[in-house]
Amino acid sequence: MLIVGWPMFSSLATAERLPSSSARAYKRIDISESKRFLCGMGYMRLSLILQRYGMTYRSFTFTSVDEKTMKSTMQSSLLDAHVVVFGGSSGIGLAAAAAAKARGAEVTLIGRTASKLEAAARTIGGARTSVADIGDRRAVEALFQTMTRVDHLVICAGTFITGKLADSDPDRLLAALHERIAGPVYAIKAALPLMQSTASIVLTSGQLADRPTGQGTSVIAAAVRGIEALARSLALELKPIRVNVVSPGFVDTPLFDVFGSEDRAEIFAQASSALPGGRIGYPEEVGDAIAFLLSNGYTNAEVLHVDGGGRFV
Ligand SMILES: NC(=O)c1ccc[n+]([C@@H]2O[C@H](COP(=O)([O-])OP(=O)(O)OC[C@H]3O[C@@H](n4cnc5c(N)ncnc54)[C@H](OP(=O)(O)O)[C@@H]3O)[C@@H](O)[C@H]2O)c1
Repeated sequence: MLIVGWPMFSSLATAERLPSSSARAYKRIDISESKRFLCGMGYMRLSLILQRYGMTYRSFTFTSVDEKTMKSTMQSSLLDAHVVVFGGSSGIGLAAAAAAKARGAEVTLIGRTASKLEAAARTIGGARTSVADIGDRRAVEALFQTMTRVDHLVICAGTFITGKLADSDPDRLLAALHERIAGPVYAIKAALPLMQSTASIVLTSGQLADRPTGQGTSVIAAAVRGIEALARSLALELKPIRVNVVSPGFVDTPLFDVFGSEDRAEIFAQASSALPGGRIGYPEEVGDAIAFLLSNGYTNAEVLHVDGGGRFV
């Protein structure tokens, strides 16, 4: 027997897979009562879920849950939530947008390049897009003035600015700090009036926060470590809005295009051979982790590492 455990969840669970605590929360009701219950929730997309699994209503026994479980689940659902993703036109941000959309969210993708944003929106089957540089305070403020509601804010915008301090213009390296610290501060400040108490924010750090390379990544390492400190403090300051961080290791995205194809392949080969799993990550794996941080209402001030164990090797 299959149970449409929670209609807001993107997956169906088999009865056997349900933890006993969840199973206890369920009580069987007749089909007409369940239909009223489901419709009353306003955002039921049961038929779509059933369609995805090639099932019909007749295949199912309808169930209901207790009120306490319902409230916590309603808070953590992404159905019809508006998720704004800075850096949503590529790589991890795009994967996060796709994961949020798959969980029922409406997404807005932000980046600096209109053509990339349009292509990204097509890739995920439609999304609103806006052009803005996260480091440009006025542009960021203007962007949020066009919105009425932000349920979740995801910040993945960033470029890979590297160079050994001895050989580099310090101001060029410090642009990494502006992009990763000033940018999120501008975006969060501008989004706050549009966020309710159930809202959440996910910032992006990286393996460099934990593992120095000695290869010209000192300033960007300081920037990503700073993101983690910023998030932990803001989680207390902005309560009850949740603030979390995802910290990816090596992930195959266009971020590494700056190195050229040969060097990029060499970097990925070296990283893969060092990693316990023998491969670098896919953006979808990080996108999925971001969707988890958005949707799990009790995860807060967390740094979730999605690095294949890379910070220890
Ligand atoms: N890939 C990895 O291995 C890895 C590892 C650790 C951490 N990270 C971090 O994860 C984040 C996402 O990286 P990614 O790998 O997904 O890179 P990516 O594929 O290059 O995507 C970066 C995204 O950010 C946007 N962007 C860059 N600068 C921006 C700015 N100033 N304002 C607004 N949007 C901007 C880009 O679009 P436009 O260029 O058109 O603006 C693009 O949409 C970055 O912060 C990166 O440092 C990545």
